[in-house]
Amino acid sequence: MRIIATENYDAMSRQAANILSAQVIMKPDCTLGLATGSSPIGTYKVLIERYEQGDLDFSQVKSINLDEYVGLSPEHDQSYRYFMQHNLFDHINIDPANTNVPNGLAKDVKAECDRYNKVIEELGPIDVQVLGLGHDGHIGFNEPAEDFATLTHLVDLTDVTIEANARFFASANEVPRQALTMGIGTIMQAKKVIMVVSGKDKAEIVKKAFTGPVTPEVPASILQMHPDFVLIGDQDALSLL
Ligand code: F6R
Repeated sequence: MRIIATENYDAMSRQAANILSAQVIMKPDCTLGLATGSSPIGTYKVLIERYEQGDLDFSQVKSINLDEYVGLSPEHDQSYRYFMQHNLFDHINIDPANTNVPNGLAKDVKAECDRYNKVIEELGPIDVQVLGLGHDGHIGFNEPAEDFATLTHLVDLTDVTIEANARFFASANEVPRQALTMGIGTIMQAKKVIMVVSGKDKAEIVKKAFTGPVTPEVPASILQMHPDFVLIGDQDALSLL
């Protein structure tokens, strides 16, 4: 595990964007694993800037997102498909057919998980997987559990996650209670994993996940075992390490 300590959110975002840019330049048809949430927004902004400057070409890039809320349509402004369109895909030349997000409206959840696992199998292994970190240690929506789930599956969101994500909805009541998420086995199979973390509110869980025992009770702790994991954090998030 490598740690890149940065002064602030913007510097963190540039470091993460550097790794992704290098990947896209070195392997134009690479597969990127992408995350949503506040943490990678700055990273995506830098990628968009570099695309606009003519330094990056996404025309052959494939993407696989980590997760999606159950019950939200792609047009819902809090769905993760909407987030990706708005914060990245609509601003770069990625082929829409090459972008993948679980379908939160699928009637048959098991079939949707199987379909997503097939997509991952066809496009994988992921070259670089981007992650954020939940306050309870979740990655993707793999919440604290008794085991590390391997493949795409349905999860019940914890109260901590519902509370944390309520800031994007009118109230906590409107936050979906379930999500579809890529499994930890898939994340661990990515050739490289980068995590962006910022803010004092993440310091405690960063310490727990990366200096504590490896346990499914803190899902991110498994990343200590990944052969090429890079933690990119600002001073506040890394302050307890
Ligand atoms: C998002 C995701 C989540 C977030 C995590 C941190 O696709 O999978 O694991 O990365 O909840 O969210 P932020 O960055 O908003 O603090």
